[in-house]
Amino acid sequence: MSEDVEPDEDARSAAQAAEFDTVADWTAQAAAALSPAHRIPAACRGSGGPPALDWLLDRCRVGPTTRLIDVGAGIGGPAAYAAGRTGVRPLLIEPQPGACRAARRLFGLDVVQADALALPIADHCCDVVWSLGVLDTVPDQAACLAEISRCLASSGVVGLLAYVASTDIDEPDTNHFPRPGELTALLSGAGLEPIDRTPLAELGPVPDGWQRRADEVDHEVARRHGDHPLWQQAANQERGVVRLIDTGQVTGQLYLLRRSP
Ligand SMILES: C[S@@+](CC[C@H](N)C(=O)[O-])C[C@H]1O[C@@H](n2cnc3c(N)ncnc32)[C@H](O)[C@@H]1O
Repeated sequence: MSEDVEPDEDARSAAQAAEFDTVADWTAQAAAALSPAHRIPAACRGSGGPPALDWLLDRCRVGPTTRLIDVGAGIGGPAAYAAGRTGVRPLLIEPQPGACRAARRLFGLDVVQADALALPIADHCCDVVWSLGVLDTVPDQAACLAEISRCLASSGVVGLLAYVASTDIDEPDTNHFPRPGELTALLSGAGLEPIDRTPLAELGPVPDGWQRRADEVDHEVARRHGDHPLWQQAANQERGVVRLIDTGQVTGQLYLLRRSP
């Protein structure tokens, strides 16, 4: 990443801690207080819900014995969805302690607290690596993709959801959205090549009730903690990213990748 687009590291760390540590804990508490059906929708924080997850599960051929890691797993909604649909036992990797606690509490999943830039995984031992809505938040995108590639078995595949900026945009301090050409170069630099790809927007709508349940949990978190500065910081951040997506400046792109021959 060039220096002129490098977000301020302190701002990034503080913002990430607000959103994925403190508010993640609060989200798990609110979801647990509502109903079991609220948990997965509330815990998918970047992955677009069932249309995107089904697209990935079908193409990654995930089954009960698949060695699947989810890098930057957040509070575990995508991994829990995969476990429920296929019987897989995923390993979640996530740096923020609040999100790790939330994933264990909501879904009883295996979670390791670690950074995508130094994955605690042996070389070439994963059948499937997911990383959904994470790339724009990591400080060194090339190193993150290189780590993902290192963990992948020779026959393995990566499910990547990347948010990409169509043009030069005014980015928040906390994110760097790669331009399309930049993402192509990053993938190729990590020894990864696309097998399939779709814009998130071209997949079908989320099922009835999914967004409503996610919103109900968010409203409950706001009701409990809306006057707290960390909630306000996280909400502002989220609003900024949603505005970039809603105005088409940033689009979600789903990729199925393999290691380049
Ligand atoms: C938008 S959330 C997506 C969470 C989850 N993948 C999902 O789809 O619900 C971004 C996640 O990336 C994680 N993250 C940020 N920097 C990271 C890093 N250096 N290594 C691993 N994960 C990171 C954040 O803590 C957060 O949980």
